[in-house]
Amino acid sequence: MPIREFRMADYSSVIALWQDAGLELNPSDSFEGLQKKLERDPDLFLVAEEDGQILGALLAGYDGRRGWLYHMAVHPFGQGQGWGKRMMEELEARLRNKGCQKLNLLVEPSYSGAQDFFERLGYRRDELIFMEKWLGG
Ligand SMILES: CC(C)(COP(=O)(O)OP(=O)(O)OC[C@H]1O[C@@H](n2cnc3c(N)ncnc32)[C@H](O)[C@@H]1OP(=O)(O)O)[C@@H](O)C(=O)NCCC(=O)NCCS
Repeated sequence: MPIREFRMADYSSVIALWQDAGLELNPSDSFEGLQKKLERDPDLFLVAEEDGQILGALLAGYDGRRGWLYHMAVHPFGQGQGWGKRMMEELEARLRNKGCQKLNLLVEPSYSGAQDFFERLGYRRDELIFMEKWLGG
């Protein structure tokens, strides 16, 4: 199955892939952090695999109101082959099945191309001010 749910055994491969694709990782991406994530909605953490190699990985969540996409990347050598689109379609289908009406995501300005990619998939830009606070612990 080319798109499947993430397993903890994929941890090193997925972290390496996200780094190779230029994503900025954060403390929530530690082994323990991703283990915690799997306790909640493991079906929204997906990888794309071909010939035993992980080519793409996306991490999303659903809080009962909105879906949120946190990380999404396809390895540079797999980009432009439709993997990103197929992974997003799978995620959207899973969210729809849960009754989720809207999927939100944030794009780092440095991720050139990501905005165009999401626009191709029907996402629209909204001018909001993003605020955040790390709670520690
Ligand atoms: C953005 C990213 C996930 C796209 O994945 P991908 O597998 O290369 O994209 P796909 O091949 O599925 O492309 C789907 C559509 O988006 C378009 N697209 C993809 N990347 C694009 C780009 N950089 N500029 C313009 N259009 C782009 C494709 O042309 C395609 O359009 P089509 O359906 O009309 O043919 C991938 O390039 C990536 O991992 N980039 C680095 C990390 C990143 O920016 N992640 C997003 C963080 S918010």
